[in-house]
Amino acid sequence: MRFLQFSGVAVLVSCAAAQTFQRLGGCPDLGCVFPPDQADFLPGQFFDIRLEVHSPVNGSEARKGDPDPDFQFTINKKGEHPVPVTDFFDVKEPSLEAWTFTWYEDLFAEDAHTPSLVNVTSKAYRRVALSEPGEYEATLTYYGNQTTVANWLVRDLSSKRRAKNVILFIGDGMTTNMITAARLLAHRSINGKYMTTLQMDQFPVLGHQMTHSMDSFITDSANSATALYSGHKTTVNALNVYVDSSADPFDDPKFETISEIFRRRYPDGGVGIVSTAFLADATPAGLAAHTSDRGEYDHVIGAFLEGLHSHAWTDWNGPDVLFGAGAENFLTSKDAPRDYYDLFAEKGYSVSWNKTALQSAPNDQRALGVFQTSNLATWLDRHVYPDNLRNQHNHPDGSERDADDLPGLKDMTLKAIDVLHERHGEQGWFMMSEAASIDKQMHALDYDRSLGEVLELDDTVRATIAKLEALGELDDTLIVVTADHGHGFDVTGSVDTAYLNAHDDDRSKRRAVGYYENSGLSQYAARGPGRCGTRRGNTSRRAGTRGPREPAVPGPEGESSYVANYKDAVTGFLINGTLPVDAAEGVHSLTDVPVFARGPCQELFGGVYNSVDVFFYMAECLGLAGAE
Ligand SMILES: *[C@@H]1O[C@H](CO)[C@@H](O)[C@H](O)[C@H]1NC(C)=O
Ligand SMILES: *[C@@H]1O[C@H](CO)[C@@H](O)[C@H](O)[C@H]1NC(C)=O
Ligand SMILES: *[C@@H]1O[C@H](CO)[C@@H](O)[C@H](O)[C@H]1NC(C)=O
Ligand SMILES: *[C@@H]1O[C@H](CO)[C@@H](O)[C@H](O)[C@H]1NC(C)=O
Ligand SMILES: *[C@@H]1O[C@H](CO)[C@@H](O)[C@H](O)[C@H]1NC(C)=O
Ligand SMILES: *[C@@H]1O[C@H](CO)[C@@H](O)[C@H](O)[C@H]1NC(C)=O
Ligand SMILES: [Zn+2]
Repeated sequence: MRFLQFSGVAVLVSCAAAQTFQRLGGCPDLGCVFPPDQADFLPGQFFDIRLEVHSPVNGSEARKGDPDPDFQFTINKKGEHPVPVTDFFDVKEPSLEAWTFTWYEDLFAEDAHTPSLVNVTSKAYRRVALSEPGEYEATLTYYGNQTTVANWLVRDLSSKRRAKNVILFIGDGMTTNMITAARLLAHRSINGKYMTTLQMDQFPVLGHQMTHSMDSFITDSANSATALYSGHKTTVNALNVYVDSSADPFDDPKFETISEIFRRRYPDGGVGIVSTAFLADATPAGLAAHTSDRGEYDHVIGAFLEGLHSHAWTDWNGPDVLFGAGAENFLTSKDAPRDYYDLFAEKGYSVSWNKTALQSAPNDQRALGVFQTSNLATWLDRHVYPDNLRNQHNHPDGSERDADDLPGLKDMTLKAIDVLHERHGEQGWFMMSEAASIDKQMHALDYDRSLGEVLELDDTVRATIAKLEALGELDDTLIVVTADHGHGFDVTGSVDTAYLNAHDDDRSKRRAVGYYENSGLSQYAARGPGRCGTRRGNTSRRAGTRGPREPAVPGPEGESSYVANYKDAVTGFLINGTLPVDAAEGVHSLTDVPVFARGPCQELFGGVYNSVDVFFYMAECLGLAGAE
């Protein structure tokens, strides 16, 4: 197994076989059980079961014969007798499915275009639930005497509701290192002591969550959103399903999310979704969609609109509030065959395309706000470099005009609270608000913009607390601020850009880097979030003024192979990198991420725990345990 450090240095830590590719994540044997071994459930949480039996036709695991069509599946509480699944859940035996799939065992096989072929038999049991807390054994028996056992835990949680409202803020990709750097930029210090601190710094409880996915130690945002919203870890690109080996992205085994359970338990409860990303993107999508492919954008917007009635899955009936960007997925096109603006309006949503309309939208109506195509412009571009907003042809009405009068995360979040409070002041509400471009700009290695987004998030949290206080809701609202994964980012000093730019060769330029006693001070200036002047010297040469950074450009191998675009780096150093050449930007990293909590149940969030625990703590606090 190879281990990649964030700096890109490859270190050989053991001589186990390469794990680059897997036959099927979560399924090390030829018999597969989903939910897999070690899955945890909220009492009463609905889920599907998918069983597969594999018969590899060729490759290193090849065996003779067809996959078993007569596999058996039993469930029992630990210490009790195994019961056939149909009796256990009182469900009908589904019909047997069969398919084949191929996979590459390693990079050599991929280079040689020799995939391994696998024959599969399968069954799926849909929409079952375990209400009684305890340990369960789910046993698949196949090929006569082979077994795969999944140990499941239904957590024993209090069903007493302690929070009326929950707000989950997600700083996408946000790490402690970024919060530290953002604090340095935005808060004045004297002789090493801060005069003010971030709002997050003032939360009473801080925890750490581990973001690893089910079958890889680095997660993507779909997989990690799934863990935070449903308590189940899955595979990269999957939203609220375990990934089976069939080709269909919609037949994978689903499990219920916090928004669905909340609505099922409290039909008059409100749900709000706010993001600075395009709304079909993984973090907002995770509150509605169930698919193994996060790229199924039309399915995502359809799931926001309708819930999943067509899949007979849940009574989820769409959020009260949906604010963000990504107009391209709402406008009629090849990929979005329906005009979603009209469909949302028909369902009683107000539709806003700019900040003025957002702010005057009625609070007693459900509200859709889509403010531009693609992702929302960053705080830095909206506030410091507004010229970058021109000639974008990104108006949400599809007219190719420039979007203007853009709201930010704070405007959207505060309006969402108004709507949720007006409509669901009695039964309470759940809201997710995402600062998406912390991640998007970290991918671009554009630290100025990314840290500006961290500060915008902090400013939004501050304004949210003030707003809840004014509404008399603060004491009844659990506020959680966390991230879904990290990026490799830290600060080791500062750069004298005047000296740097005055020299040409790498070794002289490096003299401009100051560390330890020469690392300098923050150049803090009271200009609000996004005032990002970590560098000494010639700040007029900042790449940031031209718009987001382009960290790599097409390389010698042509399309989809990249080389570092060091000329677009503020420091102008040549760092070729060690990622594969098809990586055009930075990638997610291994680090644990922080969790800040305040309000009812805040004490649950202290300590070091797993990403899925965030779901269980929020669900317990809302009294969702045993909600079948
Ligand atoms: C595998 O599946 C295919 C298609 O279902 C079938 O024709 C074939 O006989 C199966 N068995 C083997 C050993 O290839
Ligand atoms: C397995 O069989 C498939 C289909 O015949 C073939 O394309 C593939 O190259 C084979 N793979 C190996 C590893 O032999
Ligand atoms: C399972 O059965 C096969 C065929 O009868 C036999 O070869 C194999 O050793 C058995 N394996 C186990 C683990 O009992
Ligand atoms: C905002 O949207 C409203 C309603 O679509 C429109 O009438 C108004 O002109 C827009 N304002 C700006 C500044 O674009
Ligand atoms: C700062 O950078 C700008 C743009 O590259 C350049 O025109 C100017 O001469 C530089 N000033 C100093 C003091 O290096
Ligand atoms: C960086 O990559 C480019 C493109 O492959 C190559 O021309 C250059 O020599 C490399 N530089 C270093 C320092 O490795
Ligand atoms: Zn993310």
